[in-house]
Amino acid sequence: MKIINTIAALKSVLQPIKSTVHKIALVPTMGALHSGHVSLIQKAKQLADVVVCSIFVNPTQFTDPKDLEKYPRPLEHDIKMLEEAGCDYVFMPSVKEMYPQPESWHIDLGPAEFLLEGEFRKGHYQGVTQIVKKLFDAANPDIAFFGQKDFQQVLMIQNMVAHFQMPVEIVSCPIIREDDGLAMSSRNIHLSPSDRQNALVLSQALNYVKDNFESQTIPQLVLKAKQIINSVPGVELDYFTIADTKTLLPEDKKMAQNSIALVAAKVGETRLIDNVILN
Ligand code: PAF
Repeated sequence: MKIINTIAALKSVLQPIKSTVHKIALVPTMGALHSGHVSLIQKAKQLADVVVCSIFVNPTQFTDPKDLEKYPRPLEHDIKMLEEAGCDYVFMPSVKEMYPQPESWHIDLGPAEFLLEGEFRKGHYQGVTQIVKKLFDAANPDIAFFGQKDFQQVLMIQNMVAHFQMPVEIVSCPIIREDDGLAMSSRNIHLSPSDRQNALVLSQALNYVKDNFESQTIPQLVLKAKQIINSVPGVELDYFTIADTKTLLPEDKKMAQNSIALVAAKVGETRLIDNVILN
């Protein structure tokens, strides 16, 4: 596995590969890798000839500077994990490399940008799409892999790709969970033992909704899910919604397809998100 730190070096390695009709996959990450990321690399290996993983903690997508500062950066561990997963190239640029000078960025990501995470983290998806566009320009991948846990992020990246008509296929991969149901996340490292236990209520509420989706109305399901979450001290709910997978607008009636339950909550000091596709 080769480690690359500059855009020029990445291009000079990947361009000859691309011109020999090889398929290039990119797995963009911010590091602090876990089995969820490994599942993305594995899927990428199945669908492409060469797998590039980027590790870059992108400052423009953080709305809280403290969050950026305390974002975990266990680089040696990450490199070992990628090597074991069979990744071909790791792209680890500096902030200066990706943002040589201050730049403004704003694109129309559609009305869903301002819902859910967009409401709680203003400007977050502008920062996400800004860096993903830069990474796509640098690696020129045929296919890129993201986790379904950040469901809204995948939607925003799809909108960005459509906006620029980029020839990149976006693949959303299933959420990987711990044995007890907690969705894997780089942020789980910040959970104290009691937070870790309390955080289970998020997947429990989602499972309740999935298991009872046929027999109860949407308002009943949302009310019950909120009650389940609010019954756990130390968990502060930001939102729980059943929404349309394309618009992210809340649904009040069941549709034949395209419904998703999404949740975000602060567990202790750590903000977690999770979701489940319902039909
Ligand atoms: O999901 C993440 O880790 C980040 O938001 C991404 C897509 C790598 C962009 O920085």
